[in-house]
Amino acid sequence: MSARVLITAGASGIGRAMAEAFDAAGARVWIADVDKAALAACPDHWRQSVVDVADEASVAALFAEIEADWGGLDTLCSNAGIAGPTALVEDMPLDGWRACIAVNLDGAFLCAKYAAPLLKRQGAGSIVITSSTAGQYGYPHRSPYAAAKWGVIGLAKTLAMELGPHGIRCNVICPGAVEGPRMEGVLAREAAAKGMTRDQVYAGYASGTSMGRFVEASDIANMAVFLGSDAARLVSGQVIAVDGHTVNPDPKV
Ligand SMILES: NC(=O)c1ccc[n+]([C@@H]2O[C@H](COP(=O)([O-])OP(=O)(O)OC[C@H]3O[C@@H](n4cnc5c(N)ncnc54)[C@H](O)[C@@H]3O)[C@@H](O)[C@H]2O)c1
Repeated sequence: MSARVLITAGASGIGRAMAEAFDAAGARVWIADVDKAALAACPDHWRQSVVDVADEASVAALFAEIEADWGGLDTLCSNAGIAGPTALVEDMPLDGWRACIAVNLDGAFLCAKYAAPLLKRQGAGSIVITSSTAGQYGYPHRSPYAAAKWGVIGLAKTLAMELGPHGIRCNVICPGAVEGPRMEGVLAREAAAKGMTRDQVYAGYASGTSMGRFVEASDIANMAVFLGSDAARLVSGQVIAVDGHTVNPDPKV
């Protein structure tokens, strides 16, 4: 694969796994992340930018730099997202709601807005947006996250229709619960909110899937590489879960 790939939130977690997988497949990798220290810990041969995807000027500057240095882009992995607050809707603070929507939904919108002209000029490209199983079901105590992750699906389906005639595809990956520090934070907050232990919440997530387990960041990364490749040349407008098959999104353990 000789592709030029941009991955937002590429310095850690799923984004970093995507960067590693594209790198291993022979692509050129550019990671954008808000965390300078995490960027510094990534391999030197990946291009790196400090970017807040919720900030339009920051995103605009990133795409201007990509155009100047690479002359174009083949795959955008719009992956940045934050968990947002854990509370019932009636207790949800508006500022926490807005912050979650800003990174997860505004961020995906802004990256698509600035990627589209670049991709259209070259008449080819692939956009892969990271949603969540929270974008396929309701998610008690996590309303802003669920709303944002459903929102990016509407964005992606629209992008697929607007950009398809220009040879550009857009798809969504919905990861299930991924092993790692982020889910540990989610488990701790959810255990506190529901009066359960961390292990009970973990068991609930795992038992709610047919495969009976969490997924790994590399599982999501492998799907992103496929969607960015010519092997997926007629796959567009799709929402693909990589979650071990969620059968019960809110098990009461
Ligand atoms: N981890 C999971 O279980 C899981 C499940 C479903 C979906 N997701 C989604 O996958 C994506 C990646 O999640 P993760 O688990 O790797 O997250 P993470 O919390 O491990 O880290 C993601 C990275 O995002 C960066 N980031 C945060 N805000 C940013 C911003 N405004 N601009 C740019 N970068 C920013 C952080 O600095 C960090 O390096 C997110 O969209 C998340 O919602 C994760």
